[in-house]
Amino acid sequence: MSAQAHNQLPDDFFFGAALSGPQTEGMWQAQGKLENLWDLWSNQDIRAFHNRVGSYAGNDMGARYEQDFALFHDLGLSSCRTSIQWSRLMDADGQLNPEGAAFYHKLFAAAREAGVEVFVNLYHFDMPAYLFRRGGWESREAIEAYASYARAAFAEFGQEIEHWFTFNEPIVEPEQRYEHGTWYPFVRDFARARCVQYGISLAHSLAVGAFRELQASGVVRPDAKIGLINCFAPPYTREDPSEADLEAVRMTDGLCNRWWLDLVTKGALPADVMETLAERGVTMPVRPGDDAILAQGVVDWLGFNYYQPRRVQAPAQDIDEYGNPCFADPYVWKDAVMNKSRGWEIYPKGIYDFAMTMTRDYPDLEWFVSENGIGIEEDRAARTADGAIDDTAYRVPFVRDHLRWIARAIDEGARCRGYHYWGVIDCWSWNNAYKNRYGFVEVDLTHDYERRLKASASWLREVTATHVIA
Ligand code: FCB
Repeated sequence: MSAQAHNQLPDDFFFGAALSGPQTEGMWQAQGKLENLWDLWSNQDIRAFHNRVGSYAGNDMGARYEQDFALFHDLGLSSCRTSIQWSRLMDADGQLNPEGAAFYHKLFAAAREAGVEVFVNLYHFDMPAYLFRRGGWESREAIEAYASYARAAFAEFGQEIEHWFTFNEPIVEPEQRYEHGTWYPFVRDFARARCVQYGISLAHSLAVGAFRELQASGVVRPDAKIGLINCFAPPYTREDPSEADLEAVRMTDGLCNRWWLDLVTKGALPADVMETLAERGVTMPVRPGDDAILAQGVVDWLGFNYYQPRRVQAPAQDIDEYGNPCFADPYVWKDAVMNKSRGWEIYPKGIYDFAMTMTRDYPDLEWFVSENGIGIEEDRAARTADGAIDDTAYRVPFVRDHLRWIARAIDEGARCRGYHYWGVIDCWSWNNAYKNRYGFVEVDLTHDYERRLKASASWLREVTATHVIA
């Protein structure tokens, strides 16, 4: 089974760039911006970041956005998604920061002028540090503060912005910060991770509720839509699975995928997952009225970030060394093709498999691929004698294969409306900083963040112009 024959995307299929405020803007101490979690961690231990490059610089987009929007337009991209930084838009009293607001008004206006529509996401792993210190997503204060920030953003930009998202990858903070202990504050506590996940679900739902209310009263434009973006990874297991392997798949799918899919289509969390969690002693900090809050979480459409599948099998032990219940162990597939720079498996068919699952189980849901991309260590091997980067040998096949599987899913009924490539212009990647480069456009750190097209850019321009996946 392949997607070779599917090389045409619909005429109204859109192409764009995915980015985020903290990874691009820079200006971390300008305009009254507060310290966020990344600034806090960078200040505390700069050695945790590749080449000691912390959160400070982004990719200098704050100073170069006009040029960047022109580049997107030149590449045939009609939209880009970025995030507002909560720590820039709001002050420490929870009031709008006028300087921050002025920056985003200018940013959005410049995009419009360049013919690029901005999709606005409200949260990309970047809580203001003071709220984290008060308990982060485990505290109702932070959840309420997020809702009030979202309300302020809708009120401020409600006439300008058509596409809104509450969160990017809400599964990542519970996992990275609270379960695997890889990101600040390095916690390894499964139950706390789920409470964080629950808190984010409430925050998402409160924001959607505020959006609906402000749209009904005319503050938000009538054609505006709201959604959620998550990295949905289809779970796979061994070819000849045991009952226990299938159970590992059910819980992985339940926690990472269905949790969010049910929330945004049904306004509730999946009952089977909550039951299994409760049986293992993991309960949510539920308060009276929470069900009504979650019921507001139903969205207009969804963003699907896809980089890699999850391969799981039955866990070798019931409880890990930290006392956490285990639901699945990783499963290493012998045929896996790896992106060695990032350590992520490359499996383009996963995008199709998950698309078809959504088509079957959530047939009314519209969606788009909100992130997909390949980060290669400094594009090093691709640097030619004249200094240009010829990345066509890997970036083009990566994107081509994923687009063909998307085309096939659409041909078979999937309601996928577009594709945003992650980065387009190289940017800062959390701990990896500038190690892995994703862009069709290079950012030269040795020449003041100068932008330069990589060879793959002409291929992208061709595809966005013709919608033929050559
Ligand atoms: C995703 C994140 C994004 C970026 C890409 C490479 O998980 O949403 O911010 O870092 O990975």
